Amino acid sequence: MSIDASLEELRELKQRALLGGGADRIEAQHERGKMTARERIEMFLDPGTFEEIDALAADFDNDEGERFFGDAVVTGWGKVNGRTICLYAQDFTVYGGSLGEVVGTKIAKVMDVAMKTGVPVVGLNDSGGARIQEGVGALAGYGEIFYKNVQASGVIPQISVIMGPCAGGAVYSPALTDFVFMVEKTSQMFLTGPDVILSVTGEQTTVEELGGAISHVSKSGVAHFAASDERECLDEVRRLLSYIPNNNMDDPPLEDTGDPITRRLDDILSVVPGESDMQYDVRDVVERLVDNSEFMEVHEFFAPNIVVGFGRIGGRPIGVVANQPLYLAGVLDIDASRKAARFVRFCDSFNIPIVTLVDVPGFLPGVSQEYGGIIAHGAKLVYAYAAATVPKITVILRKSFGGAYIAMGSKHLDADVNYAWPGAAIAVMAGTQAVNIINRREISNAAEPEVERKRLVAEYQKRLEHPYIAAAKGYIDDVIDPVETRTKIAHALEMLRTKSVSVLPKKHGNMPL
Ligand code: HXC
Repeated sequence: MSIDASLEELRELKQRALLGGGADRIEAQHERGKMTARERIEMFLDPGTFEEIDALAADFDNDEGERFFGDAVVTGWGKVNGRTICLYAQDFTVYGGSLGEVVGTKIAKVMDVAMKTGVPVVGLNDSGGARIQEGVGALAGYGEIFYKNVQASGVIPQISVIMGPCAGGAVYSPALTDFVFMVEKTSQMFLTGPDVILSVTGEQTTVEELGGAISHVSKSGVAHFAASDERECLDEVRRLLSYIPNNNMDDPPLEDTGDPITRRLDDILSVVPGESDMQYDVRDVVERLVDNSEFMEVHEFFAPNIVVGFGRIGGRPIGVVANQPLYLAGVLDIDASRKAARFVRFCDSFNIPIVTLVDVPGFLPGVSQEYGGIIAHGAKLVYAYAAATVPKITVILRKSFGGAYIAMGSKHLDADVNYAWPGAAIAVMAGTQAVNIINRREISNAAEPEVERKRLVAEYQKRLEHPYIAAAKGYIDDVIDPVETRTKIAHALEMLRTKSVSVLPKKHGNMPL
């Protein structure tokens, strides 16, 4: 064959790969309100940076006359905000994006490239699941991807973007990654669909109600972010990547934000009411604290009684964990513990300092919490903070009681710098509860029990509800003026840049999963 003819043949093959499942199926994809795999890649990456691999991969053993070059996934690398990432995008126009051996091998290969080069991997999912025609070969493909997800965990950031169906065992790959994004109305995740559920449990539900974006960001917590359309979703993935490093040996990217670290939080006390049981939105504090008020909240709609997310101080990315007095008084319950523990684990894996803002009445009492395992789930949070070796800076804003005081990045879990505001109450419990236990007899024997109760509460508050006992013992490094909180944290971050900790040799800990 002449070189011209070879080139012509190559062009034809590439053209076939570009067309995926063909013009009709591309049209059908658009009619479903979805972009194609290639359109998504183009929108996601910096212009002109996509390098495709395995566009010519195909299933030669299973040729039924309609061979799809590239099969049902597009893989390769490109740049996001000028930084290289690896990615794959499932192509729904080929066998519904289903995963057979070729697709499984392609995804595993691009994950290997990401691990070898130490760059994040982003998966755009849109698939009918295991390719039914391929039987166990399809299951093997999934198994290998799950294995790679686990190998890559804590080495490179892994982000899953669900842009169509993701059903059956296929859901476990996203679940093994660090962050899951979903698109409202066009993406769904579930292990078994509504029909199977109806036949097994008799429950009636719809695909959207069961596995739509809103369900997963608010009820199950499986997804971290929901976007109203694909463009917004991909923009948010780009934004997330701007906070995180390429791999576990790298530092998170510095940015010149132009926001001075000496900026005082002059109106901070108008945001946080002095009375410890009054509500406020802790995001108003976070937004004042971080550079240019830019805060990317993670898991916004799941366990809103704790706020987690990324921001920058002095241009340096930080992970923020903050009790949220606006919901359930900011109490720690099962979901809040799981959410914060997972976030702390991510930050620790990828060298992102953790800034903790504490205003917590305690762990949530209740039979359902106990039966649901608050003991084990709360222990996850303790474990995550104790095991984290990144810089840990904690500020107690208003109150910190009981086990929650210990769990929320206390000095006892090896936090590096711990501050408290002057009004902070740090004790086993609030005086209003404490007197009912330790002064029960005096109160019931008093001529006027309610007056006596109030007197005892006031006495307890004066004696124990302040930060100075903790400061005297060194559990709090300093009691600071709230307006200086940003500067104090910035200075601590600067000092902790060279933090180095050695841990006892072990295979791995046994965290209470
Ligand atoms: C092969 C599949 C497929 C699959 C869809 N297609 N799913 N081909 N294997 N799993 C094909 C269809 O035949 C069709 O081909 C094209 O993809 C588009 O599918 P439609 O049904 O026309 O699209 P739509 O109406 O949008 O419905 C999408 C869908 C539905 C909801 C995903 O196709 C569906 O329910 N598919 C089966 C899902 C499923 O049960 N998968 C197995 C899950 S178990 P043509 O040629 O017409 O374009 C699993 C186990 C994993 O995944 C285990 C891992 C450990």
